Amino acid sequence: MDWYAEDFFCHDLPTQPRPELGIVLVTGATGYIGGRLVAELQERGYRVRIMVRSSSPVHEERWPDAEIFVADALNVGDLKKALTGVSVAYYLIHSMLLGKKEFEYADIQAVTNFRFVAEEINLKRIIYLGGLGRYHPNLSNHLKSRLNVAEILIRSKVPCTILRAAIIIGSGSASYEIINNLVRNWPVYVIPAWTETLCQPISIRDVVKYLVGALELDETSGISYEICGDDVLSYKEMIRTLAKILKKRRLFLNSPISSIKLYSYFTSLLTPVPASIIHCLMEGVKTEVICGDSEIKKLIPFKTINYKVSLLRALSREDHDAIYTRWADAYPPANELAMKLTDLEKPPRFISSYSILTEKSTQNLFRSICRIGGKEGWFHTNWMWRLRGFIDRILLGVGTSRGRRSESELRINDVIDFWRVEDLVPDNKLLLRAEMILPGKAWLEFRIRPEDKQANRLSVHAYFQPRGIPGRLYWYNFLPFHFIIFKDLLKQLAIRS
Ligand SMILES: NC(=O)c1ccc[n+]([C@@H]2O[C@H](COP(=O)([O-])OP(=O)(O)OC[C@H]3O[C@@H](n4cnc5c(N)ncnc54)[C@H](OP(=O)(O)O)[C@@H]3O)[C@@H](O)[C@H]2O)c1
Repeated sequence: MDWYAEDFFCHDLPTQPRPELGIVLVTGATGYIGGRLVAELQERGYRVRIMVRSSSPVHEERWPDAEIFVADALNVGDLKKALTGVSVAYYLIHSMLLGKKEFEYADIQAVTNFRFVAEEINLKRIIYLGGLGRYHPNLSNHLKSRLNVAEILIRSKVPCTILRAAIIIGSGSASYEIINNLVRNWPVYVIPAWTETLCQPISIRDVVKYLVGALELDETSGISYEICGDDVLSYKEMIRTLAKILKKRRLFLNSPISSIKLYSYFTSLLTPVPASIIHCLMEGVKTEVICGDSEIKKLIPFKTINYKVSLLRALSREDHDAIYTRWADAYPPANELAMKLTDLEKPPRFISSYSILTEKSTQNLFRSICRIGGKEGWFHTNWMWRLRGFIDRILLGVGTSRGRRSESELRINDVIDFWRVEDLVPDNKLLLRAEMILPGKAWLEFRIRPEDKQANRLSVHAYFQPRGIPGRLYWYNFLPFHFIIFKDLLKQLAIRS
């Protein structure tokens, strides 16, 4: 890892690596926490097996020394294959992206299957990271579901370590991106009383330390621990702290309206995180989430990071373009969104292509293609892309504000505004899959092909598989815009190469 690596790993952990434990399975490795954990475990010399739901060359590229198993926790057969030969497993599966209606069922089914298979193969230990909170009539569905998962695991015959955290602050975390974007994009907050609820956030770095420390200490088996950072703050204070760091004057006005639905919708319009996720998180702010015990601090003692320093670290990672994992890394709500261009039985019904000849080298052209979207925008007619994103947001889609994980580097599965990287062949092609709300499936492909010794052909292809008449109408409506957008985009890409 060559980027900003000097303090990425947790070398100050008081526990000692135990690679003799055998194979350690990380489920949810494509997720925000799982991705960070895998890197740390490998650095400490563990044999890591990774469980992912769909295969992709990016997994081998990202984790060349890990065993990669494709398995869905909703399928017992898959789980048996993934768990056979494993000594300790991290359970980091979470279906929140499925949305409020479906995640509870999916989470319970997945953990029930996991526990069943873990018992059958005599797994030595499970380590689970869940949410902080206690059963209470006001408890959000999201937190209730996290507690239910913990209950199922702790009752297993397999010894289990449960770690429970409130909101996690770090570059790429949904909570951090919500706070950061609110502070940067909005000067006046009309806030409900629940923003005064207290919470004890923890930095992602400390979460990873506790996850690794729990593996390295057998004493943590069969126990549930609360893990927290140094500060107890209200949500309002969290926003204020960041506003102070960024030297932004922000005004807070009290509001009698307390509808979570309304606030999550408006917050989603100002931040990269979709309303469905914000809604799940905001439901949790009705109850305090503060650590009641600090047992884990005695067992795994290290200097935890306070809220302000967590923010400074996250801001610095953003400045260095060094975000390792992001909340958007896990797959989008409906799995069918992940349908690949090559999964279509026939070529897509509509294709529009534009190309130009350029003397720029394939390497330079590809580098410039790989910078599209995010903060740099789409180089030309940016307002059209933003307008399309805004309409998508109003319709509760992902919009363009998700941006990108890194401004310069791209890997398969990365998000670029309302697209996701489906395929990437260096100096040759970049294929993006649409995740915005559409009456059909859409892809956008950039290709570079040497034409002769002097010139390369740079082309862009829009593919669309319509759904019914609305899909066809959509395509024909947007066709004239394609001409304006794509011709200029290609010219700009060549100029910037
Ligand atoms: N992030 C936070 O701020 C935070 C705070 C407190 C506690 N936690 C806890 O930490 C844990 C991990 O959270 P996270 O933020 O890393 O979650 P995340 O980014 O949403 O990732 C969830 C992971 O679960 C996988 N998954 C979902 N359904 C699956 C299934 N049926 N079979 C196999 N894998 C499945 C996803 O894989 P795909 O890529 O295939 O979808 C993804 O890798 C959760 O238990 C969460 O409650 C997180």
